[in-house]
Amino acid sequence: MGVTPVNLAEYEEAARGCLPREVYDYYAGAANDGITLRANREAYERVALHYPVLRDVTVRDTATSVLGENISFPVMVAPTAFHRLACEQGECATARAAARAGTIMVISTLATTLLEEVTAAAGGRTWFQLYIYKDRGATLELIRRAEAAGCRALVLTVDTAVWGRREADVRNNFTLPEGMAVVNLAAQAKQAFPKGVSGSGLAAYTAEMLDASVTWPDFAWLLTQTKLPVLLKGVVRADDAARAVELGAAGVIVSNHGGRQLDSAPATIEVLPRVVAAVAGRAPVLVDGGVRRGTDVVKALALGAEAVLVGRPVLWGLAVGGEDGAYRVLELLKAEFDLAMALCGARTVGEVERGLIS
Ligand code: GLV
Repeated sequence: MGVTPVNLAEYEEAARGCLPREVYDYYAGAANDGITLRANREAYERVALHYPVLRDVTVRDTATSVLGENISFPVMVAPTAFHRLACEQGECATARAAARAGTIMVISTLATTLLEEVTAAAGGRTWFQLYIYKDRGATLELIRRAEAAGCRALVLTVDTAVWGRREADVRNNFTLPEGMAVVNLAAQAKQAFPKGVSGSGLAAYTAEMLDASVTWPDFAWLLTQTKLPVLLKGVVRADDAARAVELGAAGVIVSNHGGRQLDSAPATIEVLPRVVAAVAGRAPVLVDGGVRRGTDVVKALALGAEAVLVGRPVLWGLAVGGEDGAYRVLELLKAEFDLAMALCGARTVGEVERGLIS
């Protein structure tokens, strides 16, 4: 590494320089024209923080809790796929980084490391992301394994009825190298991308696996299959959020899949207040998509989120410096959040007030 990056954007630049092009494109990429990808960022940039003055912020504490889990600051690691493309230790490096930073990693179903190993690397504390697959048996098997491994919550992604078209992956014929697979799907046949396809191997894989017929009763069914709290991820509408909570969701994650699914989905920070109003305190609301600065975290909290999740920046850290890189990304964000909190007159997460945003 040359000069050590001093912010998350510089981590991305450094990662771009060290990752194979098709890997960088896969991580950075978005659906179609990238309208939603850009909107997520631009919407944060439009939000101003109306800070109060003359408050004593000498002593501060960034810690908080989500679903009873204490975390050192209101940032968690979003589920992202294939960490072994970024560094050899893959998801275990991410898990160790998250644990060192005092937060929780959400393991992706599309991890390249067994969820049991990742949870052990995290010191026993992770959440697990899943889809409802065509094969309900495989879905249940994943749930059982996540429970047995000690994952503390499940995150059901529901913005992927069909896979978004990421044109860079199509162009690059994106696939996993020899020796890497979707190892958490127990049946060998479900671990590898289909052979001999041109275009995105991942798109071909998900076309075989994902169930476009999943509806609310399937979500209700899933809730009956586990004692773990289940959060619904991929929600941008108030009515969907309310319905999720009424059915028993333990939380709602406002997300548009980092702009990788429906291009022209709204920016998550823009729809967050509506979702928060609809959920009305019955469950925590989290948000992801475009969080790159400590001030973004303050904005999300001021608009009612309990915490945010970051995906791509952690991958950039991982690519640049493995576990240490991912850890530094999280620590940078924590330091920025602490600074932003102080300049907004807040000593604690609880003191980040709604009045900051007029
Ligand atoms: C995985 O969830 C992806 O968006 O590629």
